[in-house]
Amino acid sequence: MEVVEITRDEIAKWPVGKRFEVLPRIRHVIAEQMGYVMAGYSPGGYTNDLSTLLGGLLISASVFPRVMKLPRMRRARARAEELAGAVLEHKRKVGPRRAGPDFIDLMLDLREADPQLLPETNLNLTVLAPYLVGLDTTASTCAFMLENVLKRPELMESMTAEADALFEQGLTPGEGLRRLDVSRRVAMETLRLHPVSPAVLRTTANSFEFAGYRIPAGTLVMVGTSVGHALEEYFPEPERFDIERYTDVRAEHRQRGAYAPFGTGNHRCLGAGLVPVQLGLTMATILRELALEPLRPDHALRVRSFPTMRPVGFNIRVLGRRTHAAAATNGAGNSSS
Ligand code: HEM
Repeated sequence: MEVVEITRDEIAKWPVGKRFEVLPRIRHVIAEQMGYVMAGYSPGGYTNDLSTLLGGLLISASVFPRVMKLPRMRRARARAEELAGAVLEHKRKVGPRRAGPDFIDLMLDLREADPQLLPETNLNLTVLAPYLVGLDTTASTCAFMLENVLKRPELMESMTAEADALFEQGLTPGEGLRRLDVSRRVAMETLRLHPVSPAVLRTTANSFEFAGYRIPAGTLVMVGTSVGHALEEYFPEPERFDIERYTDVRAEHRQRGAYAPFGTGNHRCLGAGLVPVQLGLTMATILRELALEPLRPDHALRVRSFPTMRPVGFNIRVLGRRTHAAAATNGAGNSSS
């Protein structure tokens, strides 16, 4: 319910009639949602700083460690630390969330039990994790999803109908994606064609042979977890956007090794359960509230793949706000309940 309410509040700020780049706006939506769900605290005006900081951290971890010394990175870090301080202060004042502990409550419990489990040096980044995790993952995927929908009028129509039915019949807390079947499959196909994290890095613990190569222990290897997404043997006409792949009859994604947008094995993404629901509800709210300008079917998207996969310069236009009776919600914001 809160995810819907937060989305509604954020997209109410999107301008009508004027084209704008959608990814930064969606980042605000996702950061607000994650902040509420995992920390009980809104990131408010800090989302752009968090986004800059995250970009810097990813670049410094992979190619250019000195990037964090740049003035704009220092500024972003200082602002992010300010937010971390505000979250901790808020938690000190209000205590753990009454409805059940959130991520920050659990981390603070851990620290109280044994400070070595969460030392002071890691505290700020841990407190910021709820806000950072979705910025380059869920938000980019949501923008890719929007592009896929806006250039396919039949999909936009069926997702809008699905969203209308969902809101008119009322949302049941925790019901998942049962009534958002088209949305769910559009999200899955988007994650197949635009996996924001298409490979993972590992250091081998033991030596082994692979495809005729000897890989010694201690080698840094990149595992292309999403390679299967583009293979004809798993997904016929792999470059084609086709949500029928995920029906029970075809179930192409269920073949072993075929589909892994969230990675695989012991370190599979911990957000893999949450993200599809979040994407489904966010898209449903957008389509319920806004009439968006369709894109041409041949709309070409520019994609940047470093430090993570994301659309660049992808603009949309809101044609108008749809009118209908508002659905009941529980409300949200910087509260601990
Ligand atoms: C579209 C959104 C997302 C995608 C595509 C995605 C994808 C991934 C991938 C590919 C990995 C690496 C798995 C591996 O190393 O084998 C990963 C790890 C992880 N993800 Fe996500 N992620 C997304 C959003 C999220 C969100 C929102 C959260 C938090 C709620 C999250 C939490 C994590 C964590 C904690 C790990 C590390 C797991 C571990 O090392 O054991 N992810 N994710």
